Amino acid sequence: MQDIDRSEDNNKNTGKPRSVYIATFGCQMNVRDSEVIAGILMQAGFELTQSENDADVVIFNTCAVREHAEEKVWSEIGRVCKGRRNKGRAARGLAGNARELRKGVPDPIGRKPVIGLVGCMGRNYGAGAFERSPLVDFVAGPQDIAKIPEILRRIFHSRPPALHGKGEDEAILFERKIFEVDGNVRPEKIYHTGFRSGKTQAYVVISEGCSNHCSYCIVPYVRGPLRHRRGEDILREVRDAVSRGLSEIFLLGQNVNSYRSGDKGDFVDLLEDAQAIEGVKEITFISSHPRDSGTRLFKAIGGLERVKKWLHLPFQSGSDRVLKAMNRGYNSKYYLELAREYRRIVPGGELSTDVIVGFPGETEEDFRATCRMLEDVRFNTAYIFKYSPRPHSMAASLEDDVPRLEKERRHRLALDLQKRISLSGKQRGKAK
Ligand code: 5AD
Ligand code: SF4
Repeated sequence: MQDIDRSEDNNKNTGKPRSVYIATFGCQMNVRDSEVIAGILMQAGFELTQSENDADVVIFNTCAVREHAEEKVWSEIGRVCKGRRNKGRAARGLAGNARELRKGVPDPIGRKPVIGLVGCMGRNYGAGAFERSPLVDFVAGPQDIAKIPEILRRIFHSRPPALHGKGEDEAILFERKIFEVDGNVRPEKIYHTGFRSGKTQAYVVISEGCSNHCSYCIVPYVRGPLRHRRGEDILREVRDAVSRGLSEIFLLGQNVNSYRSGDKGDFVDLLEDAQAIEGVKEITFISSHPRDSGTRLFKAIGGLERVKKWLHLPFQSGSDRVLKAMNRGYNSKYYLELAREYRRIVPGGELSTDVIVGFPGETEEDFRATCRMLEDVRFNTAYIFKYSPRPHSMAASLEDDVPRLEKERRHRLALDLQKRISLSGKQRGKAK
């Protein structure tokens, strides 16, 4: 690592620490990652701000699971920079320099903040992000978040004070752009900065990445193969959260049921250890894979007093043909029996799921099988998604052959069906 003159770290105009605004997209894992990023940035002398308008740096911590989520981020990056340019114009009474903004040239009085594309989209796009949007100054993947303070220092230190003048050579500008997307381990210490944004709830990551390779999913590529954190490190985080008054613990992993620590056993052992910590009021977890779920897990949910009586168990499709093409490793009969077993062992427990409609080759009959699963299981909540082809996934090579309007129709029908089920479930609950 380079030797850096720390006196350069503060904002030249205000003399105060540089401020960072973090915009978070996607799942709970990203919410936790944003806390981690905030914590390490504060340790490194940066300040967090709640307003994107006065931030020196705006970090977009992003999701790549569907194309729609990515489009939202690109448009937000444009919106934030445009808002700044307009603010700068008003402040100076000048016509803003649209060309500069297009080229991503940061303005001398700070109209354009440093923009970071971080997380799953960072890994998905890599250096291609700079071509997609010249407004982006640096890119970091989910396994590279520990490097962000250093990246920011490199950016701020490499900018000569008068850099943003006219005639800036684009090639030089591009050289200043930094991308770090090839990391494969996160240093354990980033989880222990003590910074948390929840008031009562603490997210705790138990495993990173995923090795399931469901054919539609980009996660194994962007987050890498499954790695388990040490049980003792996880429990240390739980104890620390409780000591800060956060007594609702939310355990996170792409597939928590396959957790195996080197030191503390499997996921059920971890639940037992976590609930034994004094002060823990409730333990919740996501996400579970049907293939790795079973009686032992359900008994833990039903039997451990402080474990929330809720299971999120994505079934994705009710058609065996589609499940096979999705590489899910189970069929509809297995899932149905699993759901029944859960209901039997955890009476009154909640059950939620994820569903994808319009996977390549999904016929009307396949779709009806998905609707039948919704009807048979009667989930409390179902999150229903339209299939979105993702780069680096196995299904990317299949033709996305369900027409957009047909995907929308199936999406609407499944949503309406689930709405009726959720409503009747609630009413039944009231009548009891
Ligand atoms: N298209 C649509 N939905 C997807 N999901 C994951 N990948 C895709 C994709 N390519 C959904 C799955 C998963 C949830 C987090 O997102 O249902 O369980
Ligand atoms: Fe999105 Fe998956 Fe990344 Fe979470 S892990 S942000 S759901 S792509």
